[in-house]
Amino acid sequence: MFYRPEDGHGLPHNPFNAIVAPRPIAWVSTRGSLGDNLAPYSFFNAVAYTPPQLVFASTSAKPDRGDTKDTLAQIRETGVFCVNLTSEALIAAMSATSAPLAAGEDEFTAAGIGKAQCETIDCPRVAAAPASLECRLVQVIPLLGAHNFLIHGEVTGVHIRPDCLKDGRYAPPDRLTRLGYKDYATQRDTFELDRPPGG
Ligand SMILES: Cc1cc2nc3c(=O)[nH]c(=O)nc-3n(C[C@H](O)[C@H](O)[C@H](O)COP(=O)(O)O)c2cc1C
Repeated sequence: MFYRPEDGHGLPHNPFNAIVAPRPIAWVSTRGSLGDNLAPYSFFNAVAYTPPQLVFASTSAKPDRGDTKDTLAQIRETGVFCVNLTSEALIAAMSATSAPLAAGEDEFTAAGIGKAQCETIDCPRVAAAPASLECRLVQVIPLLGAHNFLIHGEVTGVHIRPDCLKDGRYAPPDRLTRLGYKDYATQRDTFELDRPPGG
């Protein structure tokens, strides 16, 4: 099949984010004047090594936050955030934090998630996360369409859970990724492939 997005896909559900998959999940924690906040964002990836940088996208808005959601509203206020990585063991907790709680309601508390403090920024992080990336906001880029924003951050601190380091390599036991629809995937098998010289 072929379709132009502006004409509609004619399928029961939009296939777009199932086509661009699997995606890592940024479980973003923030601290604002209303309190602490935690929510998952899978329009997410790393984009540069030196300095390390990442992006994630916020789409749509909630009525008590104007043109966006709690996460970006808090980042605009403080200029910092933390991206916690997820795992299969944390899937229920992660999913629970996608509920649209009122601004100021703390998803850490609502979902019973242990909190730790970041080192380089005044922000909470998920204590049980396989890794957490403390970030300072570089820029918020408005995207096409209403309430679509790309959040670009520089990583200022990296936490790795001790059991996720094996022989000096980051190797979490139960990496969790987001597919389309309601689907997720875990990743356990890996293999190595050499690049061509200079590649
Ligand atoms: C696995 C998963 C991935 C998600 N990815 C995104 C995303 O990339 N962008 C987005 O705007 N919302 C995404 N959501 C929905 C948000 O988590 C949800 O709107 C949440 O209530 C936002 O919380 P906040 O207002 O506290 O920031 C995702 C939800 C789940 C469960």
